[in-house]
Amino acid sequence: MDLKQLNAFVAVADLQSFSAAAKTTGLSQPSLSRLLKQLETDMGVELIDRYHRPLQLTDAGLFFYDKVRAVLTELDTITNMTKRLSAPSQALNIGFVPSVLYGLLPEIIADFKHNNVNPDTNGNTDIEVNLKDISSYQQVEALKNGEIDVGFGRFAHQDPWIQQILLRHERYVVALPKAHPLAQIKEQRLIDLASNRLILYHQTHLSVSATTSTTKPVTEPLLYLFAQYGVTPLMTTKVSDLQVALSLVAAGEGITLVPASLRTVRTEQISYQRLIHENVTSPIYLHTLKDFVHPKIPNLLDAVYRVYEQRGITYRRQQFI
Ligand code: BEZ
Repeated sequence: MDLKQLNAFVAVADLQSFSAAAKTTGLSQPSLSRLLKQLETDMGVELIDRYHRPLQLTDAGLFFYDKVRAVLTELDTITNMTKRLSAPSQALNIGFVPSVLYGLLPEIIADFKHNNVNPDTNGNTDIEVNLKDISSYQQVEALKNGEIDVGFGRFAHQDPWIQQILLRHERYVVALPKAHPLAQIKEQRLIDLASNRLILYHQTHLSVSATTSTTKPVTEPLLYLFAQYGVTPLMTTKVSDLQVALSLVAAGEGITLVPASLRTVRTEQISYQRLIHENVTSPIYLHTLKDFVHPKIPNLLDAVYRVYEQRGITYRRQQFI
């Protein structure tokens, strides 16, 4: 069994066609068929049901496909990382979720650049920083394929390639239309918000769940926070992102919860108030690869901690493994 056979098998399984797979692999159709026949003969297992159109995999083929695909993806990651290890790039590519951009990210980048300036003879500094807006979930793939070197996100990931450093827990605040009867109340309780339409905007669900009185598991992040206090909002609306959620609040269509660093957005139409519950927080993580930490990332983490200290933010210092 060799890589060429496995790649050919995955291409046929993905495209369900010998001719389409021949095109993408750059092989002639007879060579592709020969490779697959050889693979099946070597294994003594029929992997492809050739009598169906479009082509289908046998049960054994389906099992083999799942496992082989994972191995080939892993091999890609290893190849990518090995190349980066041998020649780390001068640029630092940083992925971030939009909610951290409204908060401390600009300040952290400014501090990082300020403290990592080593101008060469032409006056160019030795670090180029590229910022990419990318969801917490997509950051894992982006780290593995080399698109980013480090990611700031709000969800924990269990992935054998990824290490994450919990930076801090940021408190949520409630965003209410300015004209809302609760808008002037400085400390809010989740139970008092339950009769309002809650605007949901997260694209990722939690792997843990809370249960409600109906015992249905709750994995939507905002509903999860309410469920922890035994509260189920009466009405909800789901939107595509945080900006849309805040626009709906501004238009008087409902309320939402956002991390406190968002409290400067659209303040002419939105009133942001504290929640009395100390545990209603959103974590902020730094994600990077386990086996390859770009040489500048420890300096970036130092910049995060310096900004926390300047701002009097409580944090627990962590280290890379
Ligand atoms: C923070 O708000 O704690 C934060 C924002 C961006 C990057 C890192 C931390």
